[in-house]
Amino acid sequence: MTLNPVDQPTFAITTPLYYVNGLPHIGSAYTTIAADVVARFYRLMGHPVLMITGTDEHGQKIQRTAEERGMSPQSHCDEVAAGFERLWELLNIDCDRFIRTTAPRHNVIVNEFFQRVWEQGDIYQGQQQGWYCVSCEEFKEERELLSEKRCPLHPNKPVEWRDEQNYFFRLSKYQSKLEQLYQDQPNFIQPESRRNEVLSFVSQGLQDFSISRVNLEWGIPLPVNSSHTIYVWFDALLNYVTAALEPDQEPTLENALAAWWPASLHLIGKDILRFHAVYWPAMLMSADMPLPGQVFGHGFLTKDGQKMGKSLGNVIDPFDLVSRYQSDAVRYYFLKEIEFGRDGDFNETRFVNILNADLANDLGNLLNRTLKMAHKYCDRRVPTLLEDAIPADDVLKSKGIVLGSLVSQAYGSLAFSEACEAVLAVVRASNKYIDDQAPWTQYKQGNQAAVEQILYTVLETVRLAAYLLSPIIPNLSNQIYQQLGFEVDFNRHDIGVAAPFSQHVGWGVLPANQMLNDPQPIFQRLEPPS
Ligand code: MSP
Repeated sequence: MTLNPVDQPTFAITTPLYYVNGLPHIGSAYTTIAADVVARFYRLMGHPVLMITGTDEHGQKIQRTAEERGMSPQSHCDEVAAGFERLWELLNIDCDRFIRTTAPRHNVIVNEFFQRVWEQGDIYQGQQQGWYCVSCEEFKEERELLSEKRCPLHPNKPVEWRDEQNYFFRLSKYQSKLEQLYQDQPNFIQPESRRNEVLSFVSQGLQDFSISRVNLEWGIPLPVNSSHTIYVWFDALLNYVTAALEPDQEPTLENALAAWWPASLHLIGKDILRFHAVYWPAMLMSADMPLPGQVFGHGFLTKDGQKMGKSLGNVIDPFDLVSRYQSDAVRYYFLKEIEFGRDGDFNETRFVNILNADLANDLGNLLNRTLKMAHKYCDRRVPTLLEDAIPADDVLKSKGIVLGSLVSQAYGSLAFSEACEAVLAVVRASNKYIDDQAPWTQYKQGNQAAVEQILYTVLETVRLAAYLLSPIIPNLSNQIYQQLGFEVDFNRHDIGVAAPFSQHVGWGVLPANQMLNDPQPIFQRLEPPS
């Protein structure tokens, strides 16, 4: 599986645009962390990157939530959107665009896009009858529903019967073009299981879908009939295009397409695959616009093995988690623990155990004890070695030499847990190396050259580990680089220039004689939850 089949130098990545019916939950945090990691990885490699996230604010669900709170929809949205921005800051999400569907410039883009599709003859008026799930903002087939007409995704909220005049998008016209797309670009939908789901759905025959609503004020008025508003999904997907505009640019489709479109990757949860992998490419085809490179549908999170839900009282509050454990810990757990693409679980005991084992013990202690020895035995400097003093088949160096390409392949295919595992395996091997080689004994025996070789090899491995994990744990990587005597900030946008991938991913980068800083524990052991 490869990423970015779009042949362009820029890399634009999107998260879903989250509904503002409530504060962000751990599911939204999960996708956004993953997108941030991918964006950081591409920045590290020196690509121009645009990371887009934002909020989806129109539609019945939001209008009702605002009404229930006795607020105007706009002030409700402003308040919740600010909560999303706050969480992204706490989680150290470095997004380039935080876009909202209520932004006035978005309205302009939606109108222009609608016009294009209208001129194609792909929009017509018809009668919509069916069961509507307001929580999904989607019509459901009768056969999809549970007993008592309940939506399988929102069983506590009955679906509502609708029988109204709507405008429809001619999705059926794009059946064969979509099938061709899936065939020509097998990576367009990933992972494979999701691709198969979509292929099977499309093979049953595509139905046109309604793109307007009546009796709903909270939305963008339909350009050809102002008694309708545009269906929230039609509006929201287009927000990805609006986000591609520079902030001060005039909002036209031409401008939006100029620099960052098409997006290379839409990262989403598996429940909204159909919108992104079927409706969206067809809409773009109709407007004669380039298609995104890939749609990746990740799995769902559960808590202690159970589906999360407000009624079950087991939702994980991401604000609480990050305030108790800090951003790097939260980021690391979700990406290391869960194979991206599959469903995964959050369990606090496991959370604490993994972080203690990997970050406090394996990585943190390794740095700490090696640095202490370098202070003591090497006059607090990186040892100066004769060229080729460490043979290429040294048990640790040989692992370090290939690690960069292993890990970048893993990031490139969104296999985050594989990336972490590969790095941690080398970190664990370093701990064993130091125990086996016992530099303290060598020192006592006056074997200074051996001491220096061992310490250099281990310090260099820790450096490489920090570099390769920096998209996931940038703050810890900063501390490690800083203690090793570098002045590098992995939170900088131009990190790919400040510490170029091509250079830092190699082995033997730690400059001889570089002054080392004081050893400080980088990650305090966490107490098991009570
Ligand atoms: N507004 C739409 C997206 C429009 S994109 C143009 C939407 N919003 S959402 O807030 O309901 O969902 C956002 C994302 O959160 C979805 O990708 C969904 O899959 C994800 N998750 C919701 N609950 C989740 C878990 N329990 N676990 C993982 N992700 C989950 O849909």
